[in-house]
Amino acid sequence: MSRGNVKSSDSPESRGRAPRVSVDVDRVLISREQIAERIRELGAEIARDLDQLGPGAEIVLVPILTGSIIFVADLIRELPQKMRLDVVTVSSYPGKATSSQGVTLSGMLPEHVAGKHVLIVDDILDSGKTIRMIREELMKRKPLSVRACVLLRKQIDSAMQTSCEYVGFDIPDEFVVGYGLDYDHYYRNLPEVGCLRREAL
Ligand code: IMP
Ligand code: MG
Repeated sequence: MSRGNVKSSDSPESRGRAPRVSVDVDRVLISREQIAERIRELGAEIARDLDQLGPGAEIVLVPILTGSIIFVADLIRELPQKMRLDVVTVSSYPGKATSSQGVTLSGMLPEHVAGKHVLIVDDILDSGKTIRMIREELMKRKPLSVRACVLLRKQIDSAMQTSCEYVGFDIPDEFVVGYGLDYDHYYRNLPEVGCLRREAL
């Protein structure tokens, strides 16, 4: 547990300036250093597998917005292969929800995946509905392969039983924020992954 920089919201340092995300964090689960190190390892593993696809391989990364933006920005820079990036936008935790309310796809799915190798990238695997739905929809478009990569996976049956080729960290079944993950659209800019104080929920 690290609360090194947490300042109470009415401390002298915080008076008169915009509120800080760290104030609402109860516990840091994964530090920025741990995230960076694991992404380097994941990137090396994925890059090795992409190389196995051979010289003619066409690769498309499909990040699921909004939660994966920071993860994919770091991950893609660990991958030296030529590739396209084609985002999809999905919402399953609308507003202040802290459990999945069903997956809603807003916007288009990538059209040009036929004959290509697809890597879906998401922030967290929870009920598994998002990854399963996106994988099924993409499969209909006749890609050569579809794999999935998540930064976090909750240690619950639904997540563990969802097929996912690359997983950054297995975490306890808690609602987490930071490094792209939000609560009510906030806390995405927290550089670590952490749990919120009860009063912030
Ligand atoms: P699933 O479809 O239930 O696997 O949920 C996946 C999506 O729900 C993720 O892409 C996140 O956007 C969101 N989500 C699931 N768990 C959490 C959490 O603990 N914090 C923030 N967002 C979450
Ligand atoms: Mg998401």
